[in-house]
Amino acid sequence: MPGVAQTLLPWFETHRRVLPFRQDPTPYHIWISEIMLQQTRMTAAVPYYKRFVAELPDPAALAACDPERLRKLWQGLGYYSRAANLQKAAKIICERYGGRLPADYDALRALPGIGDYTAGAIASIGFGLPAPAVDGNVLRVFARLDNDDADVTRPAAKRRFTARVMEEQPAGRPGDFNQALMELGALVCLPNGAPLCGQCPLAALCRGRAAGRAEQLPVKPAKKPKPELAFTVAVVHGPKGVLLQKRPERGLLAGLWQPLLLEGALAPPQLADALAVLGLPACSLQPLSAAKHVFTHKVWRMQGYLARTDACALPDRCVWATAEQLETAYSVPSAFAAFAPAMSAPAQEGQ
Ligand code: ADE
Repeated sequence: MPGVAQTLLPWFETHRRVLPFRQDPTPYHIWISEIMLQQTRMTAAVPYYKRFVAELPDPAALAACDPERLRKLWQGLGYYSRAANLQKAAKIICERYGGRLPADYDALRALPGIGDYTAGAIASIGFGLPAPAVDGNVLRVFARLDNDDADVTRPAAKRRFTARVMEEQPAGRPGDFNQALMELGALVCLPNGAPLCGQCPLAALCRGRAAGRAEQLPVKPAKKPKPELAFTVAVVHGPKGVLLQKRPERGLLAGLWQPLLLEGALAPPQLADALAVLGLPACSLQPLSAAKHVFTHKVWRMQGYLARTDACALPDRCVWATAEQLETAYSVPSAFAAFAPAMSAPAQEGQ
C-alpha cells in the first residue's frame, strides 16, 4: 500500500488553499504567517498578514518599527506578546544574522517567540530543511491515523507524534509534507468529533477509522474552569474626546490602550464617586451592555457605562483621543470590542 506522503502530497497539490504566504514563501513570510496563525483563524489572519508584510517587508523594517505602530498593526489579533516577541527576534536577526533568518532549526528555536512548531515550520517551509512542524492539526491527524489514545497534551505523546512525522516525511519535500498534514487537519480531519472521512485521502491507511474511533480521537484532558474577574468600564467623553488609559508595559495586554477600567462591579453611585476623585465629575452616566472576554487563563466580566464630563483632567497614563486618533493611532484590544461603538460614536449609544 502507498505510504502517507505518497498519498498525501498529490492530494495537497490539488486541494491546497491559495494563501498569500504560499505565493512567496520566504522564511520571513513563513515566520510572520505562522506566528499570526498560532492563535488566530486563517480567514481572520490573512488580511492582517497582507497589511503587515506590505508595511514591514523584512526583519530590518520590523526591528525599526515604532512599538505603538506595531501594536496598531496587531490590533484585533490578540495575544499581543506575539508582536513584541516578533520585534525582539527581528532585532536579534539584524544584529546577529545580517538581517536574514538563520537557516538552522536550533538557531531559529532560540529566537524569542519561536517554539518547536514555529522553528520547524520556518525550517521546513521557508528553507526546505527536514524538520517536524507539529501543531494541533498534526497531532489530531496522527492520533487518528495511528489510533493512538494518548493524551495529546502530554510531552511524551507529542514526542511520539513528532517522531512519526519524521518517519513519514519525504527527504525532498519536508515543507510540503508538513503543510499537507496541517491542510488535511484544517479541511478534512476536522476537530471536535467531525472528521470528513469520506473525503480523506488517508482513509484507507487510518487505523482510527478502521476501529470506528476516529471521532473520539484525539484524547485531551477536560478543561478546567477559568477564574472570572469583575470590572467596571467607563467610556468617558469630554470636551477633548474620549479618555484612553495606557495599560502597564508588562503583563496582560501590555502597553495597549483602554477605556477607564475599574476593578469590581461598581454601582453607578460608586462609579460616579470614582470619576469625581479622578477629577472627572460626570454630568451623565448611562449603562452600556455587559460584556465578557475570555483570555487563556481567565475571564473578564465587564459592565460598561458611558460617562459625559465637562472636565479635561488627565488621570495617570491617560490621554484624550479624538475619533480619528482612536481609529488610526491608539491600539485598543478586542477585549473592549463591545464598547467600541460607545468609544467612537457616543451619541448613538443607548438611543
Ligand atoms: N495553520 C498554521 N499554519 C498553516 C500552514 N502553513 N498551512 C495550513 N494551515 C496552517
